[in-house]
Amino acid sequence: MRRTRRQCGGVATLAALTLLVLTGCENDQQSVLDPVSHPARDIASLWWWMLAGAVVIFLGAVALLGLAWARRKRSGLPVFGDNEGIARGLVVVFGILIPIATLIALYTIGNILVLPVTQAPAAGSTSLTVQVVGHQWWWEVRYPGTNAVTANEIHIPVSTRVLLVGRSADVIHSFWAPNLNRKIDVIPGRENQILLYSDRPGRYRAQCSEFCGVQHAHMSLYVYVEPKAEFEDWLDRASQPASAPAGTEAEQGRKLFASMPCAGCHTIRGTSAAGSLGPDLTHVASRETLAALTIPNDPDYLAGWIADPQHYKPGNRMPGLDLDDSELQALVAYLEGLE
Ligand code: CUA
Repeated sequence: MRRTRRQCGGVATLAALTLLVLTGCENDQQSVLDPVSHPARDIASLWWWMLAGAVVIFLGAVALLGLAWARRKRSGLPVFGDNEGIARGLVVVFGILIPIATLIALYTIGNILVLPVTQAPAAGSTSLTVQVVGHQWWWEVRYPGTNAVTANEIHIPVSTRVLLVGRSADVIHSFWAPNLNRKIDVIPGRENQILLYSDRPGRYRAQCSEFCGVQHAHMSLYVYVEPKAEFEDWLDRASQPASAPAGTEAEQGRKLFASMPCAGCHTIRGTSAAGSLGPDLTHVASRETLAALTIPNDPDYLAGWIADPQHYKPGNRMPGLDLDDSELQALVAYLEGLE
């Protein structure tokens, strides 16, 4: 049967999509196959070797199936006829020896060679620790020894071994920045640790990878890997208390924030707002996204988010507030000034 042009177009699109999935998108890639650290490179190599092995085994199985089908009307084995000794030998080799050898190789390479490389650095061997706390459905990020607290973004210096400590405030989550390392589960009541390292500056997407409720898919974050001086600058700014509102509208927003339910759930360091249910907003304007990468952080989206958070992320913990237009604009003016 001849393929129509439309079918060929479909096949080409499918092939292109497959390639895109396999190689990761050009920018903003969240991909195991674009590793930027030693552990991630080992994981990617393991992935390619497993793919190659699986392809060989799959093609071999399909070829044998094809042979059996082509010779289905003959008695005995397709190639060896009625020789029972050879038949038994094939079962032993393909059914027992090769699977055992494959499992031993996978166990050795995966658990003995690759896994130790991905482990958390030994206590005291790193100069920087980052704590992440999983919440339904956002990530709290702390830098012990400083006042810096942020949400849904981690900044680390390039070519520096960082100890990442994961905890949960509610249910089981899983922290996974596939370009940097394997995933770790983030479990209530315990701390899990992993090495966070990148030898290439850039922005890498990370994602909660354990189903944790209706907005699990909208629980992402960015890891920003920066030159050391740039990182130090960022940490210094992130450790400062909030800047004072500039202008009367922003000042009105500050008062509204303090008097409304906002301050019960969010902290703005340097003000009376000290809630801990929602993200720390001390430097919210410096962040790239809102609601754990669900929407961009600009005045229009921020206004939309405050007016109706359930529209963008149904089921999330933030209630909508009954605000008139001028109140909403004042709140946005205040928050967008918190650089
Ligand atoms: Cu948190 Cu899925």
